[in-house]
Amino acid sequence: MNNRKTYAMIDCDALAHNLKCIKKKTSKALIAVLKANAYGHGDLPVAEIAMREGCIMVAVSSLDEAIALRNQGFQDEILILGYVDPKDFDESKKAHVTLSVISFDWIKELLVLHKDLSGMSFHIKIDSGMNRIGLKLQEEINTTIQLIEDHQGIVEGIFSHYACADEDSKDMCEKQFNFFKKIVLETHHAFKWIHIENSAAVVSYEDDFTNAARIGLVMYGISPVECSLDVNPVLSLVSHISCIKKVHQGETIGYGATYTANKECIIATLPIGYADGLLRANQSRCVFCDGEYAPIVGRICMDQCMIQLNHWVEVNTPVEIISQRIPLTAMAKDLNTIPYEILCLLSDRITRIFLQNGKEIKRINQRLHN
Ligand SMILES: Cc1ncc(COP(=O)(O)O)c(C=O)c1O
Repeated sequence: MNNRKTYAMIDCDALAHNLKCIKKKTSKALIAVLKANAYGHGDLPVAEIAMREGCIMVAVSSLDEAIALRNQGFQDEILILGYVDPKDFDESKKAHVTLSVISFDWIKELLVLHKDLSGMSFHIKIDSGMNRIGLKLQEEINTTIQLIEDHQGIVEGIFSHYACADEDSKDMCEKQFNFFKKIVLETHHAFKWIHIENSAAVVSYEDDFTNAARIGLVMYGISPVECSLDVNPVLSLVSHISCIKKVHQGETIGYGATYTANKECIIATLPIGYADGLLRANQSRCVFCDGEYAPIVGRICMDQCMIQLNHWVEVNTPVEIISQRIPLTAMAKDLNTIPYEILCLLSDRITRIFLQNGKEIKRINQRLHN
């Protein structure tokens, strides 16, 4: 798979640059969000750069993601933003992670199973309007803090999450922020970290109450809102021509014979398909090859797709699928989705190549466990 010549190129300099830009924009402590293999970029390399650039911790979605980082030798603080089964408390303790209290039932269940929380840190998740996870009732929140401390746990943080920070209207943000602030103040607890901002909020709805921000997309160089931050996309997606041929007028391309050549044309094949995360909806969108934009013709297969070129190129010629010329944001718009989804769906078949000063410094293919 390392030999498939379809690569996600990860520009480590762009990542470091983006973090510097974000640090200039906000004085808050930064929590680097590394869910879903760092939005498809590669969790450990991103974690290392984030900590080097001054982030205070990283955040993942699950215990599995945290353990994956620990197994690769990552030693700094990891906050798990989502649900961890209370039965997995011992494993969580062993992995030395910070847990989120996602509901009142959750903390009660944990305390039935484990009376001694010593050495464990918790952040209390407040549901300020997403209605996803979190506590809402002041009394339950205060009791949660008390229970954790009574059982020798550490209540390190409290946080919430905006539902609409990427929208023009900030009405929902305001409602959520006011709710969250009131809850935090009424706990009368000295939290080390208070956080609600995500990328969109850092860029467009900063508050003067919280002291940390959880940054995802903007760190990867894509802003979810119009922004004056000079961030650059970290990931580009490149494949290479595996096969090239002339096709006669009237011949069809691919499954379902959905594309018919209306004249003699040049068709090239790429070793990338929907199993790699190149969604079938990309059919007829353009890639860039040897100076020309070339449409994907016929249906995208599981492992391959075909493009139509105006001129002959050699096998192994590189083809840009996501790049400066073919921005991820444009792709997301065309596919009626969001950049997050496209990044997260880039599969573990794709080798990630990490670049510094334009030179390869590391290559990871998760399928090959390297
Ligand atoms: C709880 C939580 N915090 C922070 C983030 C980061 O969001 P963004 O990538 O928009 O910065 C996410 C992303 O989904 C999230 O679920």
